[in-house]
Amino acid sequence: MQAYLEKFIIQSPVKISNILKKININEKGIVFLVDKNFKIKGSISDGDIRRYILRGGKLEKIIKLSSSLINKKIIVKDSKSSIEEILNTLNSKKDNKEIKCLPLVDKQLRVVDISTKEKIRGYPLASPNIGEQELANIVDVVKSGWISSRGSYISEFEKKFEKYLGGGNAIALTNGTNALQIGLMALGIRKGDEVILPNFTFGGTINAILNAGAVPVIADVCKNNWTLNSANVQKKITKKTKAIMPVHIYGQPYEVSSLKKIAKKNDLLIIDDCAEAIGAKYKGKIVGLENDCSCFSFFANKTITTGEGGMAVFKKKIHADKARILINQGLSKNTKYYHEYAGSNFRMTNMQASIGVAQLNIINKLLKIRKKVFKIYNNFFCKYSYLTLIPNNSWSENSYWLYTLVINNIGQKKRDKLISNLQQLGIECRPGFYSLNKMKPFKRYAKGKFYNSNYLSENSLSLPTTNLTKKDQEYIIRKFLDEYKKIK
Ligand SMILES: Cc1ncc(COP(=O)(O)O)c(C=O)c1O
Repeated sequence: MQAYLEKFIIQSPVKISNILKKININEKGIVFLVDKNFKIKGSISDGDIRRYILRGGKLEKIIKLSSSLINKKIIVKDSKSSIEEILNTLNSKKDNKEIKCLPLVDKQLRVVDISTKEKIRGYPLASPNIGEQELANIVDVVKSGWISSRGSYISEFEKKFEKYLGGGNAIALTNGTNALQIGLMALGIRKGDEVILPNFTFGGTINAILNAGAVPVIADVCKNNWTLNSANVQKKITKKTKAIMPVHIYGQPYEVSSLKKIAKKNDLLIIDDCAEAIGAKYKGKIVGLENDCSCFSFFANKTITTGEGGMAVFKKKIHADKARILINQGLSKNTKYYHEYAGSNFRMTNMQASIGVAQLNIINKLLKIRKKVFKIYNNFFCKYSYLTLIPNNSWSENSYWLYTLVINNIGQKKRDKLISNLQQLGIECRPGFYSLNKMKPFKRYAKGKFYNSNYLSENSLSLPTTNLTKKDQEYIIRKFLDEYKKIK
């Protein structure tokens, strides 16, 4: 049970003294009594207990659900209620008294959350969608004892992933950042080699290059597609350039064929950062097999998750074989305990892979849900000329990872104020990725001007994208537009 909820509910039969202790902890002057199935039965306030004691009642008295001390006429709300409905109830009165705490219940009247004015159930930016099958798989792993990086779920996850992409040589590992690093190392990128990457990305992209010992070379992105393009890459190529690490940012594919042409002409490798892009399509095909290596992340906010986790998918088996050794401390496949390379431990656990297998089974459903969320937002926001929606090209399809838009020329200060105002209404937003050239550890790798990436970074934000009803989205949209009007 969540710690917050635990402060407010107590199972009956229970001693009056224990009820008082709970009231003392939650500081709201009330507790809710539940039966053995957590079904809500009523409330008792500190005032009820005071009056009872003044009448000569004893602290040791056991309160049963039939007790007259319990107030059975309480106000509850369906746990699926919108924030607006919850706020309206908290702002109303019952018998002329303020409603301080509002239990949120499921269909069986079990309490699943408590809302107060200070803590309203909010809309997180993204939350995982994990259920019974994931739980059953994890239990299976724990019972089997194969909880580390051996066990049948790991190869099952890899094989299923290859099937989903339609080919490749997939290797499951600890996270997306390590997948990118191993991609570089297995392809032979060495100390001092230059790798071109976009300025508008998450820090994991550049960290992977640095961790592989290579030199990141930061390039601007194009304004209309938010990604690297051939013109920006071309400017950054030197004699030391060995690879490009383009990013399908916010699940928006970059224009692959033009970068491939440049790579071919200059004999460069391409390692794709697909961390946010599982299920995205380029020219009708799911991304992940276009280049030498493609790397995915399964962090909890990603479309499919394994808690933490990643996948590196190599075009050639020879590179995948090398990667498999590198992620296993560089240990030889043939001679036990002999290190063929200096490597590391980037292995995924069987527990993570078991979740991944269950998640891959429902990936199409998860993508469909996100696509619907994007569609609803787009249908509303496309009417406003001061907004620029996430790119939409005839040759690509987004992975619908995080719904992100640009508020034209709003500027970082006002954008951040908008984010903080929305946060107070229970709507979690995220600013566009900070440009790498603006951050201390990375700015030395950024030479020249970065107009487009800095503009996108300072004027964009992401809205909640998962587990939303249409009503929830309408609330978010309304509040977004209201708050924008206030600060513009
Ligand atoms: C573009 C991009 N690259 C790399 C990563 C790193 O992935 P992970 O968090 O699994 O290490 C992320 C993660 O969010 C990302 O968004």
